[in-house]
Amino acid sequence: MNEHNKDKIVKIFENVFKAEADSVFFAPGRVNLIGEHTDYNGGHVFPCAIDLGTYCAAKASKSNEFRFYSDNFPDNGIISVKLDKLNKTGLWADYPIAVVKAFRSYGYIFPHGADMAFFGDLPDGSGLSSSAALEVLTGTVLNTLYKLSATKQELALIGQFAENRFIGVNCGIMDQFASAMGKRDNAVLLDSYTLDYSYAPIPREKASILIVNSGVKHSLASSAYNDRRRECETALAELRRHIDAPSLCALSDDEFEKNAQYITEPICRKRARHAVYENSRTITALAALKNGDLSAFGRLMNESHRSLSEDYEVSCKELDLLVKTAQGIDGVLGARMTGGGFGGCTVNLVENGSVEAFERTIHDIYSKETGIVPKIYKISAEDGAKELR
Ligand code: GLA
Repeated sequence: MNEHNKDKIVKIFENVFKAEADSVFFAPGRVNLIGEHTDYNGGHVFPCAIDLGTYCAAKASKSNEFRFYSDNFPDNGIISVKLDKLNKTGLWADYPIAVVKAFRSYGYIFPHGADMAFFGDLPDGSGLSSSAALEVLTGTVLNTLYKLSATKQELALIGQFAENRFIGVNCGIMDQFASAMGKRDNAVLLDSYTLDYSYAPIPREKASILIVNSGVKHSLASSAYNDRRRECETALAELRRHIDAPSLCALSDDEFEKNAQYITEPICRKRARHAVYENSRTITALAALKNGDLSAFGRLMNESHRSLSEDYEVSCKELDLLVKTAQGIDGVLGARMTGGGFGGCTVNLVENGSVEAFERTIHDIYSKETGIVPKIYKISAEDGAKELR
């Protein structure tokens, strides 16, 4: 969150809607430290909300119309929809519209519409959850303006429901949960099966989290994402003919190895192997962080990348190059792709004294090899979505 963007969205609202906003809100994006593609396999994830995200200035309306404007898509102008006719537009506003519908599916009632102006500083299609931020932000605004009394956790679930049901991406709960429930200076370990969670402080005095945007948009991601889900479901169904397992991630590494032969397709076996081992790594990573053992944490990140690249096959050559380059720099404790994959960003845990060398080396090598200048962000962990006062 930054004050400059807060002022900016207030002015944008005034220019566009010719009125003063009732209030201003922020919802963060997220970076996942470890626990990738486990959240739809009943496993653990370990993300933190970040200081990049989406801002909204909003005003409750007396009419039954919602009017949405985004400074990221100014050419689309104001997009209006009536409460009784919430049709898809094919534009960015489908996200807030989906959230309004999802709220209703959860039994909440809106007396009226609202005017909402948005602006986000998350790079689009980069795997930092700009969609989840927009969903959780819309939920937070409506919840506040109309005193709907949804809990933060419910706002995350409503965001996921909106994405699954109305946008058509079969995502897990991680992104919306991180955006709603993040905590400053902490990462959140979430059990996606039970929704139990706990926070773990990030030792900023020792190491920094750096995100590198490969500049490759993950546009193929949603169909490939749904394929991965199906492959995991096939693997689980085959295992369940022989053992009792509520989810893939309910298995220990040993249990998996003993029963892996029941999964007939080698591809499905690899996908399942990733999910099971990634879940164990994530639980071990929490212990490493709590013990202050950042080297162990970093090694688990490296291993996670290898598994995502070889077993789960969701990396790409640009992400592999960024990770390999990072892992060769002194003072880099761990590096891996983060998010759904097929492009987007890497996350790097770097000793504070090595941050400059990291930025220089990544910039030089990646630009030279790919012709793309990588964007590098040193991020801090932020609170989840909130009203800004
Ligand atoms: C996307 C999804 C999440 C999660 C990650 C992979 O970000 O939205 O639910 O599955 O991919 O870990």
